[in-house]
Amino acid sequence: MTKPQLSLASACLLALTLATAGCGSQSDPTPAAQPSSLYVRMGSKTGIEAIADQMVANVGAETGQANSVMLRSHKPMLDAISSQNGQPATDPTRLQRLRNNVVDQFTDITGGPIKYAGKSMLATHTGMQVTTAEYAAWRTLLDNSLATNKIGTTEKTQFTALIDAMKSDVVNH
Ligand code: HEM
Repeated sequence: MTKPQLSLASACLLALTLATAGCGSQSDPTPAAQPSSLYVRMGSKTGIEAIADQMVANVGAETGQANSVMLRSHKPMLDAISSQNGQPATDPTRLQRLRNNVVDQFTDITGGPIKYAGKSMLATHTGMQVTTAEYAAWRTLLDNSLATNKIGTTEKTQFTALIDAMKSDVVNH
């Protein structure tokens, strides 16, 4: 029996058809490679948690310094987590809730898998009368946390732009 033979012309046509179907057509099922989310580039869950924890530690340490800038706005929260005059703390888990909300919010804005479900930034900071100088001091403490956690320049620029986009909801309310 004679084996079926592809002529050179039909073989070329078949090759061309396969090549055309396999690349560049609109039905191409292979998506273009996406750059990692900012969340992943900042270290995912452990990275974001480390940044939030360091930020909380930085703010806490600053409130203990002479001429602290953070103390004024954080005093109600610090009082709530401390025993006062022999009385137990009125809200001992408040700092932990704050920390968890910061983790969720940083995760959310960087494209991570958690949606921040806490109060809006305007509602959270209304009544605190945070000044521009206080915001700047807070941002320095955030920059310090990013540096401690060895966040790269590109990621730092992108992350702090997302943070600064919320400044108007935080300052002067
Ligand atoms: C864009 C910048 C800021 C962001 C994204 C931010 C984010 C947050 C988040 C997520 C919370 C937790 C809310 C909750 O637990 O319901 C919080 C609470 C708080 N923030 Fe900010 N914050 C910013 C700037 C500031 C500044 C500049 C200050 C003061 C200098 C400040 C003071 C506080 C205080 C005192 C609380 C605790 C409220 C409480 O538990 O009584 N924040 N912030």
